[in-house]
Amino acid sequence: MTQANDLKSWQHQAQAQTELLLARLMPSENQTPHTLHQAMRYVTLGGGKRLRPLLVLAAAELGSADPAAVEAAMAAVEMIHVYSLVHDDMPEMDNDSLRRGKPTCHVQYDQATALLTGDALQTQAFDILSRPTGLPAERQLKMVALLAQAAGSLGMAGGQAIDLANVGNAMTQAQLEHMHRLKTGALIRAAVGLGALACTDLDDEARRRLDAYAERLGLAFQVIDDVLDCEADTATLGKTAGKDQEADKPTYVKLMGLAPARRYAETLIAEALEQIAPFGGKAAHLRQLAEFVVARKN
Ligand code: IPE
Ligand code: IPE
Ligand code: MG
Ligand code: MG
Ligand code: MG
Repeated sequence: MTQANDLKSWQHQAQAQTELLLARLMPSENQTPHTLHQAMRYVTLGGGKRLRPLLVLAAAELGSADPAAVEAAMAAVEMIHVYSLVHDDMPEMDNDSLRRGKPTCHVQYDQATALLTGDALQTQAFDILSRPTGLPAERQLKMVALLAQAAGSLGMAGGQAIDLANVGNAMTQAQLEHMHRLKTGALIRAAVGLGALACTDLDDEARRRLDAYAERLGLAFQVIDDVLDCEADTATLGKTAGKDQEADKPTYVKLMGLAPARRYAETLIAEALEQIAPFGGKAAHLRQLAEFVVARKN
């Protein structure tokens, strides 16, 4: 196998691992309340790039990691992400009808179910992350706190609030950057941080480099999300294209235009790669994921 094929097959295999893990950890549809459990499985299984769990896995490859803690973090971060998508799509927020190529949760079920699906996924994430693993409880508590902070008002939820408050506004680059770092960057940074915390042998310098990588990657990810909203078609995206312009959302495309936004994301990715260069071959998958973030089509 060529090196490129090798990396691709790692990505597919890690996505399959994530799918199995989530299918196992999610309550069964046979358990009451049936509709809520069905909706939780509907939104979580069978779709998505699984970037955040893959980042947990790839970061954990830098040291000697506890496998149970890695798997718990992979599932927990994806559950928080999916919850954020369910709520983001609701009429009160972005009012989208398509997600991961399927009708959004509130369209397939109803708004109350979508609200509760998000709520239940969020708490389930912390349930899973607090189950016993091979790590000391103190270390695991750090993982719980990291994910909670990334999802909260100083992270994802805060970024979403800033996004909604600025529909139709002209934001400065500094304001937009702050918003993107929170709404999307925080969870991506937490994914890498969780992988690092699952390792028992990483020194401070390695953790600092990983965090600097994740911080740039998280911002680049949302810049490319803005670009794709404008550049790609609905079928490829699996979500409605052109929504940001239609709703006059604050985006990097609106701020600087399409080509400069893509170039900016490429610069951020180059900086992210520089940060992990000293790790050599152990960071092959982190490198691959960073390249994927700018090359992706959806
Ligand atoms: C979409 O995230 C929402 C943002 C944070 C930009 P992804 O592009 O990672 O969505 P999935 O998980 O692959 O569906
Ligand atoms: C959402 O950003 C970020 C989240 C926290 C879900 P967007 O609103 O741009 O995400 P998409 O484009 O709907 O996936
Ligand atoms: Mg949104
Ligand atoms: Mg949206
Ligand atoms: Mg978007």
